[in-house]
Amino acid sequence: MGRTIGLISLKGGVGKTTLSAALAVSLANNFGKKVLLIDANYSAPNLGIHMDIISPSRTIHDVLDGDKISSAIHYRYGVDVIPGNFLYRKAVNPLKLRNRLAYFKRNYDFVILDASPSLNNEVLSTILASDNLFIISTPDYPTLSCSMKAAKLARERNNPIEGIILNKVKGKYDVGLEEIQESTGIPVVAKIKNDKIVNLALHERVPAPLFSKGSAFSKEVMRFAGALVGEKEKRGLFLKIRGKDNKKERVNRAVLRESFYEGMFGKNGR
Ligand SMILES: Nc1ncnc2c1ncn2[C@@H]1O[C@H](COP(=O)(O)OP(=O)(O)OP(=O)(O)O)[C@@H](O)[C@H]1O
Ligand SMILES: [Mg+2]
Repeated sequence: MGRTIGLISLKGGVGKTTLSAALAVSLANNFGKKVLLIDANYSAPNLGIHMDIISPSRTIHDVLDGDKISSAIHYRYGVDVIPGNFLYRKAVNPLKLRNRLAYFKRNYDFVILDASPSLNNEVLSTILASDNLFIISTPDYPTLSCSMKAAKLARERNNPIEGIILNKVKGKYDVGLEEIQESTGIPVVAKIKNDKIVNLALHERVPAPLFSKGSAFSKEVMRFAGALVGEKEKRGLFLKIRGKDNKKERVNRAVLRESFYEGMFGKNGR
């Protein structure tokens, strides 16, 4: 039974589309999962650019308008993708997404939704259609305040946020992980550096985990994807010698992995 994962934020440009594409590609190519990736940013869709799908014949807009889901699927980089249409002429109802996916998601291990930052039915579409939600946030105060609002919105809809993915981490002037966790009450489950390979990859229209497998960006995305599939993280020699690992996001991922594993297979495993 497919699990729908929504990546949300109420701030634009934090990396939702970049990370949706990267996560989908990592789940498919690193872990052999069957993945459906959907552009749920209906008024400003651009997932197609990341996945090298330019001028798609059918899109999520057609699906919301009544077309068969299968007619809008484009296969790229190991993933089934439903892109959006910037120029769709008719108004569509984003809230239909949940029902449209209800049966179809059985064909997949994961459905990934790239959300809209608009505080209206567009983001609600992802919140209501997802089994699990993650906030994408950058480590600065304006974005943090938007993340707190997104968390509240999700809670009000009875779909609490599982974790925060911190993106574009730079260092010196960033808001710290502890402060972010304290103010939101949500664990940080990945810390992804600001990495120039992301824009190089976008320029080539290849998702970063395939463009540069060994980059810090790709490795952290893979660790997060690994937690979703219940895979234990490999610890480097240095960490093994030290005998402990105090990276908060890694510990949080271990907790996430357990909860996902139990959700999928029950407490006693497969
Ligand atoms: N870790 C990163 N390092 C460097 N650049 C990044 C990183 N993540 C994303 N970017 C860049 O930031 C820009 C915005 O990313 P993206 O389009 O994924 O954001 P978004 O949250 O989906 O925006 P919107 O809300 O407008 O849909 C892009 O140019 C992307 O290449
Ligand atoms: Mg986007």
